[in-house]
Amino acid sequence: MTLSTDVRPGALPRPRGELSARVLDVLRGAPGSALPSPPDLDPYGEDLHLTLHTCYELHYHGYDAVDPGWEWDPGLLTLRASLERTFLDALRRDTEGGADLTAELDQLLVTPTEPTGLSAYLRDKGEWWQVLEYFIHRSIYHHKEADPYAWVIPRLRGQAKASLVAVEFDEYGGGRGERVHARLYADLMAAAGLDATYLHYLDAVPAPMLALMDMMSLFGLHRRWRGALVGHFATVEITSPPGAARMVETLERFDADPACVLFYREHVEADAVHEQVMRRDVIGDLLAREPELTESVVFGIQVTNLLEDRFADHVLSRWHHDQSSLRT
Ligand SMILES: [Fe+2]
Ligand SMILES: [Fe+2]
Repeated sequence: MTLSTDVRPGALPRPRGELSARVLDVLRGAPGSALPSPPDLDPYGEDLHLTLHTCYELHYHGYDAVDPGWEWDPGLLTLRASLERTFLDALRRDTEGGADLTAELDQLLVTPTEPTGLSAYLRDKGEWWQVLEYFIHRSIYHHKEADPYAWVIPRLRGQAKASLVAVEFDEYGGGRGERVHARLYADLMAAAGLDATYLHYLDAVPAPMLALMDMMSLFGLHRRWRGALVGHFATVEITSPPGAARMVETLERFDADPACVLFYREHVEADAVHEQVMRRDVIGDLLAREPELTESVVFGIQVTNLLEDRFADHVLSRWHHDQSSLRT
């Protein structure tokens, strides 16, 4: 079963605290209206990440009710920068840093004999409602799959640029609209009986997943973080094939609709190639030109691992108590 996945600008999300309530309110008015200065917020919390997500969405598809002029509103950009500083400070505090890129990349390639992540849980003992929750969390990214990476293209040169674009070409379906990975994910959602509309489940998805999405938007939108964006992208491509293979096994165990399996099968095959290209041609060439970005690439890898671990911990701790990992 396939659905049209043409994006319709969505409704604004529901607020998750004082700051997001105030910002969402102001965004319904004219650009230039006064915004609050952000209070002290939990750098991984709901209020901060929903507000950041709302700011970033103006650079993707925006909202019906929001004047597009807000995208470059100086007041909103100032507020966003303050939230980004809070988030980045926490990410720096909670990662090791360093410049040992080879060790970081090698670590990603090690598949533990007993993988403990979400896909392993789903394969071994997941129930169908948990598979659906997993689909819902990940829809926040997969509905705009590969879009945050496109922002880095003008900031690369030579082989790094050519190779990253080659990976993006696959992510965008190799010229075929029905093979765009975001579209394959919408088909997966529909085939699982879920709503395939862009960001339909945003209100239900808690901060640990929004933080992952906000990290991608942050690294994508700032040229200074081009190394971190490439490190993040490489981490996704390197860790994707084994995770996707476990999801194929999970879905086969439930005899799921072929459209559900197709999305993950596509990633088992494509990402095995992407992994090599990202590591050798994109990172290799980028750092040959700009060796001073090594620490930034390492940071992108470590931040991805940190936020993926936080997301998995959140979901598994809820599931271990037989509770939903979603907000509603
Ligand atoms: Fe993909
Ligand atoms: Fe990929």
